[in-house]
Amino acid sequence: MSDGADITLLPADEADIWDVLAWRNQPHVRDNMYTADPISRDTHEAWFSAALADPARELWIIAVNGTKCGLVTLTDIVRTPPSSCSWAFYIGDLGVVGKGVGSAVETQVLDRVFATLKLDVLRCEVLAFNAPVIGLHKKFGFEQSGRIENRITRDGDGIDAICLELTRERWRARQEA
Ligand SMILES: CC(C)(COP(=O)(O)OP(=O)(O)OC[C@H]1O[C@@H](n2cnc3c(N)ncnc32)[C@H](O)[C@@H]1OP(=O)(O)O)[C@@H](O)C(=O)NCCC(=O)NCCS
Repeated sequence: MSDGADITLLPADEADIWDVLAWRNQPHVRDNMYTADPISRDTHEAWFSAALADPARELWIIAVNGTKCGLVTLTDIVRTPPSSCSWAFYIGDLGVVGKGVGSAVETQVLDRVFATLKLDVLRCEVLAFNAPVIGLHKKFGFEQSGRIENRITRDGDGIDAICLELTRERWRARQEA
């Protein structure tokens, strides 16, 4: 699907609020987040308006051929050296997932973080069972920097989170290779 598709990242605004909640509450998204329970409209409303107003965050909407279908969040943005941020993303439309859109989005996110925002380090945390996404990040040069044991408990079991990190230096070296 990603071949020839127009995949763009748009700045999120107030009008996106209920689309974002609908995507975030999809079971295939919730299952891979730290909080798997469905999120209420009130909770989401408070989170979304605070997130839009937070200078340490950026929210970008993923659009495929003009149709909005997912969210990228940058969090904990530190703009002074050593600069860094963390990120996460999801696509709410199961018809889109698994067809290469995520890879195209990751290419654009890295470009924005390292070439546009010029941050030094990009980090993320992925639940240990989410092997496809850990593999996706490693394909882009992320390396494991840590492991948080029992980051969440689900159905009585502790689940670890894998910490991944990519530096601008490594990203640039891979661009030039
Ligand atoms: C993460 C997400 C946005 C990736 O988008 P996507 O469109 O599925 O990504 P792609 O189709 O480019 O696939 C990315 C990689 O995942 C793997 N993958 C995708 N679908 C897979 C599947 N059904 N089974 C196994 N691996 C799969 C592949 O390794 C692929 O890499 P490849 O190019 O080497 O084949 C999407 O899967 C999603 O929304 N998942 C739920 C939320 C989530 O897990 N977010 C990440 C934690 S924040």
